[in-house]
Amino acid sequence: MITRSARAAIGPSPLALPELRQLTRRIAAEVRAGLHDVTVDPDRRWYRLLSSDGYVDVWLISWAREQGAELHDHAGSLGALTVVRGALTEHRWAPNKGTLRTRALRTGASVAFGRGHVHDVMNTAEAPAVSVHAYSPPLTAMSYYQVEPGGLLRRTRSELTTEPEKATA
Ligand SMILES: [Fe+2]
Repeated sequence: MITRSARAAIGPSPLALPELRQLTRRIAAEVRAGLHDVTVDPDRRWYRLLSSDGYVDVWLISWAREQGAELHDHAGSLGALTVVRGALTEHRWAPNKGTLRTRALRTGASVAFGRGHVHDVMNTAEAPAVSVHAYSPPLTAMSYYQVEPGGLLRRTRSELTTEPEKATA
């Protein structure tokens, strides 16, 4: 990972995707070790900002059953996540296929997403899921999308937000 002094020398710049993944893995290990309290709220998706240094924000998120986001991007931010416990389902837009592809992110899985990555994340399992997410530069906006008949991705709205994987409920 880039040191703080190195970042200061080169000026503000986002972390690369491998660094982001590694960061979420490291913080996920801290969560497993009990260093960060986690709350699961069945009525409203719970999340907490663990760290923020102007270059990268790290969030801890819990997902009760059926809690999820919407189909969205992360504007100009790169992102990564590691599943601490439970499992998440990701539906991601595959532009070359003109459809959504689904993958299961089980305990310990980590993925990174570059600019233009459009996805939805949710917990479809009975057991709560917990994940660590990092965004660099920190999240400032998200756009939301619908898949139209014929395999077209239509942007439905954009919002300024710093909240990760913003929930619809
Ligand atoms: Fe996301």
